[in-house]
Amino acid sequence: MDALEALHSRNSSARLSGTVRQVALDHIIRAGLRAPDHGQLRPWRILVIEGEGRDRLGLLFAQAKLTSDPHQSTEQLAKLRGKPQRAPVILVVVARIVEHPKVPAVEQILSAGAVAQNMLVAAHALGLGAMWRTGEMTYNPMVQKGLGLDENEKIVGFIYLGEREGRQKSLPDVSIEDHVTRW
Ligand SMILES: Cc1cc2nc3c(=O)[nH]c(=O)nc-3n(C[C@H](O)[C@H](O)[C@H](O)COP(=O)(O)O)c2cc1C
Repeated sequence: MDALEALHSRNSSARLSGTVRQVALDHIIRAGLRAPDHGQLRPWRILVIEGEGRDRLGLLFAQAKLTSDPHQSTEQLAKLRGKPQRAPVILVVVARIVEHPKVPAVEQILSAGAVAQNMLVAAHALGLGAMWRTGEMTYNPMVQKGLGLDENEKIVGFIYLGEREGRQKSLPDVSIEDHVTRW
């Protein structure tokens, strides 16, 4: 798939399974690492979670939720614990924010967002499905600590990655006129 076709046709897939070959994962991550980056700070890193790492992440989600709010039903906890099982691979995009005289934190977070977006498009170009997810666990301090984040780090997203189950969903109509004006 050429670059423009991938950019114009990418969309998210919530239902993912199968496997992601290492060669595909490397291409996807390398695409992420080509994100624009003011000051060459490389203000990001990526955690790869697969296999039993997904079980540990599910457990971490459930423990974190229980700690922040002990009134959880068994069903609610089981649901949370099962969330990482929605794809064979999860790429956690982490922004590493440093003090810089010319590059404010927002630019570093945007750069990490570009890492995530590049990886979504690369996955699509390779015929894989992906979905950028966040949710309350993203901002839970116990989850952040459990994933080994430092004080200056923020999770930008969990990129769920795998083989798309079923057909790709249809693309919404987008109109240039609705979003663009000439100034
Ligand atoms: C920062 C960010 C966080 C998101 N978090 C979630 C999420 O937690 N759950 C969800 O269903 N969609 C989430 N989305 C939206 C989906 O990734 C997706 O973009 C949306 O469903 C629209 O589908 P499309 O990408 O095919 O246009 C998030 C998107 C962004 C950019």
